Parts: sequence; structure tokens; C-alpha cells
Amino acid sequence: MSAVILAFADSMAAADRLGASLDLPVRDVAVHRFPDKEALVRIPASAQSVILYRSLDDPDRKLIELLLAASAARDSGAERVILVAPYLAYMRQDKAFHPGEAVSQKVIGGLLASHFDALLTVDPHLHRVATLSEAIPGISAISLSAAPLLTALIDAGDNPIIIGPDSESRQWTEAIARPLGLETLVATKQRLSDRQVSLTIPDVEHARGRRAIIVDDMISSGRTLVEAAKLLRQAGATSIEAIATHCLAHPDDLAFMAAHGIARIASSDSIDGPTSKAALAPLIAHAMRDNGLA
Ligand code: R5P
Repeated sequence: MSAVILAFADSMAAADRLGASLDLPVRDVAVHRFPDKEALVRIPASAQSVILYRSLDDPDRKLIELLLAASAARDSGAERVILVAPYLAYMRQDKAFHPGEAVSQKVIGGLLASHFDALLTVDPHLHRVATLSEAIPGISAISLSAAPLLTALIDAGDNPIIIGPDSESRQWTEAIARPLGLETLVATKQRLSDRQVSLTIPDVEHARGRRAIIVDDMISSGRTLVEAAKLLRQAGATSIEAIATHCLAHPDDLAFMAAHGIARIASSDSIDGPTSKAALAPLIAHAMRDNGLA
């Protein structure tokens, strides 16, 4: 089956790395914005198998462009259209927390399932559903873990302590700390608003005199990291770093975290930026080959 990777400008560098791993051509999708902000999407090439590559941070704009590109690929003769979205948005709202709220995961999951034959993502933020297939029903929905790549970013020589900033982070702290034989602490977190959280870290005194590395699936406003860093510093940690699969933080938020003593932030390249230190391409390429998608 002939295949091509189509990518948007914002994901081009990472898509190029996937193209190199899979030995497939990568072409860029053109987007024109009309004065009324409507998008015109044009794909440059097609093939029997089209792999659309785009992370879905800033999702509302990107999703529409992506669906238009998928439709153009089918109209151009693609027999199979695959989405590789290393960061997948709208997975957190998996129920109506208050009366009248939309269940975004169900809506967006259904929309993606109706436009793609297969979807591959990395560390999706799933709480109350056990598998990605429940969120993206009826197609092959593959969820990969970036934990081995993030583990490789850690220098364990001086016996740092690994901190999970909330109960959901336990899966990542354990996957990362276990192979290195490092101690982990897991905080309890209460979210008060978009940019306000309150944390407690049981046994935080274990961080005294040690380098602390906070591990999470995603960094958004950075407030979770900042609150954890405050507690760790008070407890006597010698330095504080953070590692996450996805870093969605804006430059102002990165500066805020640095100003609060977070010395280093490293993430995968799911969203290209200053924290991207681990390329996902080999992991994604391996999974695509294993699942007969490339
Ligand atoms: C939430 O449960 C996630 O795992 C992250 O902890 C959260 O999204 C981080 O958000 P922020 O950086 O805005 O505190």
C-alpha cells in the first residue's frame, strides 16, 4: 500500500522525524485563512494510506483543519486515513461534572472515530474510562506511553526523589521511577480554579537534601508544578526539576515556573517547544509497524 505523511506547519518538525523513522515521504498541508477566519485546507498529495500528523493543543482551530484535511484525503482516493495526534485534546471532560455541561470526550471522540480509520496518541489523559477505545469507539485507537523515553532523560546518579503531583500521576511516577530504583512520593491535589491548585505531599521530608523531579502527564498553566515546588523547597530539596509527556505551557507560564525555582523542564516533542527533549518518532514508528499501520 502506498503511503504518505501529511502534516501541518505546527507539527512539521516532529512529522519529519516520523517520516525519517518510517522511511515515508512527508508533505505539508496548506491552510489559507479568509478574512472572515474560515479555513481553506489543501492537501499536496495523496496515497492509498494517508497518515495525518498533528498534535491537538489549541484544539478548536486545529480540529476543524484536520477534519477538512481528512476529507480531502478521502476525496483524493485514500483507502485508509490514520490520525497520529501525539497530544489528544478533550479527553479530560469525560462526564458532566455539573448539570448542563457537554461531555467533550464523547463528542470529540465520536467525531474523530467517524473521520479516521485508526488513531494513535501518547499518554492521553483518561480518568474514568479504562481504555482509549472507549473514548474513540469503533476504530483502532492506540495509546502509547512515553514513560521509557522520559526515564531516559533522568540522571539517577545522585538518587533523586520522584514526585507525582496528584493521584492520577502515580502511573507515570511508578513507570519512570521503578526501572531506576528511585523513591516516589505522590501528592494529593485539589483544583480550585484553572490557575489555582492546593497540594499536600505525604512524607515530603524524604525530599530533604535531595534533588526532586516532579513527573506528570501534562504541564498546562504550570500551577501544579509551582505548588509542588514550594512544598519541596520548604522540605529542603536541593533542586527541583519537572518531566512531563506533554508541555502545553505558554512562554509566560514557563517564565513563572522558572521564577518559582523549577530549574529544568523536559518533555517529549508532542508539542514542539523549548522543553522538547525526547523525540516520540521511534516509539510511534514502532507501534505503527506493529499494528500494520505503516
Ligand atoms: C491534571 O490532572 C494533569 O495531570 C496535570 O496535573 C494538569 O493538567 C496540570 O495543569 P496545570 O499545569 O495547569 O496546573
